[in-house]
Amino acid sequence: MKLVLASKNEKKLVEMNDILSHLGIEVCSEAEAGVDLEVEETGTTFEENSMLKAKAVMEASGLPAIADDSGLCVDCLNGAPGVYSARYGGEGLSDEQRYRMLLENMRGQMPRTAKFVSVITCCFPNGDALSARGECPGTIAYAPMGEGGFGYDPVFFVPELKKTFAQLTAEEKNAISHRGIALKLFREQLERYLSGSESDPGKSVGVTGIIRGEDQ
Ligand code: IMP
Repeated sequence: MKLVLASKNEKKLVEMNDILSHLGIEVCSEAEAGVDLEVEETGTTFEENSMLKAKAVMEASGLPAIADDSGLCVDCLNGAPGVYSARYGGEGLSDEQRYRMLLENMRGQMPRTAKFVSVITCCFPNGDALSARGECPGTIAYAPMGEGGFGYDPVFFVPELKKTFAQLTAEEKNAISHRGIALKLFREQLERYLSGSESDPGKSVGVTGIIRGEDQ
């Protein structure tokens, strides 16, 4: 099965394929599907933005499309940058400039607890949609550590492992990350959906769920 990823983030594409490939699911880029969309993320929740992106790319490509809307929520900043993580500090900043600004904005503030959130949405051409949310708790380090990953990985510290996300291997990160958790839940839903064994399709999407086309 082939899903188009509603994103231009190469790192997300790699993480998705790492987690979904052994299910026989191939995630391809928008470019491979002949789509070049800039979807405006006008929602105020991860769920809304994830749905906006997946739906737009599904409609443009005519293929099932999967989107991840994710971000970092920091407790002492009242949940910021949250859904605005990719745009924190304005357009045109590098990942490093963004996480350095985050460290600056948190200077002297407590607690340093935070969580990464990922909401995966998959939209099918028949109007059905699957949605799954994953969260990963951690703290914000005082200085960046590690070279791996992307985005805020160098400053997202996992106390149990005593490492930042950027110090983990891809396998280690995928095993505990928000995206890894959301994709595992999504994978279970997709298996039930494809086998037709979903007993209660549900009228709404809660933490995870299926929306039937006729309900939208
Ligand atoms: P999106 O593409 O609108 O979902 O933006 C997500 C943003 O959140 C990314 O650009 C990163 O800044 C941040 N983010 C999401 N997931 C991760 C992750 O796994 N590691 C580091 N940063 C992440």
